[in-house]
Amino acid sequence: MTTGTPPLPKAELHLHIEGTLEPETVFELARRNDVALPYSGVEDLRARYDFSDLQSFLDVYYANMAVLRTRDDFAELASAYLRRCPGQGVRHVEMFFDPQAHTSRGVPMADVVGGLTDAIDAHAGDVSAGLILCFLRDQPAADAEATLRAAEPYLDRIVGVGLDSAEVGHPPSGFAGVFERARGLGLKPVAHAGEEGPPSYVREALDDLGVLRVDHGIRAIEDDDLVARLRRDRTPLTVCPLSNVRLGCVPGIGLHPLPEMLAAELMVSVHSDDPAYFGGYADDNYTAARDGLGLDAEQLRTLAGNSFEASFLDSSAREGFTEEVRRWRP
Ligand code: ADE
Ligand code: ZN
Repeated sequence: MTTGTPPLPKAELHLHIEGTLEPETVFELARRNDVALPYSGVEDLRARYDFSDLQSFLDVYYANMAVLRTRDDFAELASAYLRRCPGQGVRHVEMFFDPQAHTSRGVPMADVVGGLTDAIDAHAGDVSAGLILCFLRDQPAADAEATLRAAEPYLDRIVGVGLDSAEVGHPPSGFAGVFERARGLGLKPVAHAGEEGPPSYVREALDDLGVLRVDHGIRAIEDDDLVARLRRDRTPLTVCPLSNVRLGCVPGIGLHPLPEMLAAELMVSVHSDDPAYFGGYADDNYTAARDGLGLDAEQLRTLAGNSFEASFLDSSAREGFTEEVRRWRP
């Protein structure tokens, strides 16, 4: 927390690395790569970050990615993020990346993965990190298949696959085939579901994709049977309070369902999603949960403990971090 004491140790499991592209970096990379931007300056760009829903965010998010062109660009993006991790108490990151948003612009998969792993290796002494390749659910499933094939040479550096982008109208079931293949390759499956979409999408993610974690999942709370199933199976839900407020998925921080999810004994943890766009990194989301939702230190420790338990770290690393969480005092 931002109280002068060391921040609560945590794992960041719901973080889109492209969502850490800060406005200043958009302009710096645009200059370097000679990319024309439709904004007059950083303040003009920031003024566009007044989102009405997920799609209004995604429009700006994908447009800004045009500045990411080279392996070094991806390395600098990820390095800038990883440098922030110790100050946010983040000990381990499983970062999403959206290869289709880059390969569709002619950036080779080798440069995307190569740049991100250059940064991960350079910061390995401070924070451990893995990659989760996300398929864009508003693109055809055949494109997801081609993306998985293009990623095959790099699978030793990729821990899992995810599903993101515009949710409503793009249910998980359409991606059952590519997820089955990914699972067969040893990749851990996760998916965004129940962010804007209905509880049935969460059920499909579990049944049709075999996910080990649900990203967001806040709308699961609308369905008692689903809540009972998630509680019984201890299915992790990676919840992003500041994102949910900024995208209008909840009407305000005080009305976020996180306390209700904790009371229902769901396996929730707190994350930042796209921090450069939503006003806060990992610990800032914990601060929002404390100040905006009134969570106490014990509840914050539960969230942080869950983040390690839900991670794809091996059991001894998970236990070591969980012990650090138990010892943390605000
Ligand atoms: N891609 C980046 N952020 C996302 C979000 N919050 N939901 C779906 N796709 C995303
Ligand atoms: Zn997300």
